[in-house]
Amino acid sequence: MGADLDRATIAKAYARWAPVYDFVFGAVFERGRNAATAAAERIGGRILEVGVGTGLSLPDYAQTNGVIGIDISEPMLRKAHARVAAEGLDHVHGLSVMDAEHLAFPDGTFDVVVAQYVITAVPHPEATLDEFARVLKARGEIVLVNHIGAETGFRRAFEAGFAPVARRLGWRPEFPWARLNDWAERHPEIRLIERRPMPPLGHFSLIRFAKLAGSRDGNGSGAARPSRVG
Ligand SMILES: C[S@@+](CC[C@H](N)C(=O)[O-])C[C@H]1O[C@@H](n2cnc3c(N)ncnc32)[C@H](O)[C@@H]1O
Repeated sequence: MGADLDRATIAKAYARWAPVYDFVFGAVFERGRNAATAAAERIGGRILEVGVGTGLSLPDYAQTNGVIGIDISEPMLRKAHARVAAEGLDHVHGLSVMDAEHLAFPDGTFDVVVAQYVITAVPHPEATLDEFARVLKARGEIVLVNHIGAETGFRRAFEAGFAPVARRLGWRPEFPWARLNDWAERHPEIRLIERRPMPPLGHFSLIRFAKLAGSRDGNGSGAARPSRVG
């Protein structure tokens, strides 16, 4: 995992991205975003979108949900605020500057936690996922869309070589699937329920984790073991 991302580098990177983010990353990641919001909609209710950025996906949630968005980057969130005001998105109940690794919500607050293109941009992905599981209600889902690093071959070598530049741009390209799978296996209350390849080039995945019925709020109990997918 080596020299890793830190919050200051990420905040600086996304302050630079904010003015051009929608132009550069709007269309290219749209299919993944749509798949994630559709998955969240199947559960509905109280939805937390982590790393909401400029709020590109906020118009896609139904008005019947209550969506809260958080992000570490104030310049990105300013764009999201403007979108909510311009489009009258009354289902967005709050947008706050917050660190995904230290969520200021009680255990078991949300029906769904969504994070699109975020988990490879945080300093500590596993600790961040622990927070997602903590604030999730039993029977709720964590919905991620993310780049998954190659295990072998040219793409793996390219991703390793590109990593130092990518970190300055605000993400980590070499993120093996095993990190997510191993995280789930350490959490008896969490079950991996879907991994679906996403464009561009299928290098991204939609990933869904369920929090088992009967597990306590928080992230520390449950009986069944998660299954392996992918
Ligand atoms: C690649 S962008 C994705 C934005 C949005 N989800 C989308 O689909 O367009 C990653 C976002 O994660 C945010 N982020 C990175 N680290 C974070 C952290 N520790 N806590 C909260 N947000 C974070 C960044 O500021 C940025 O807005």
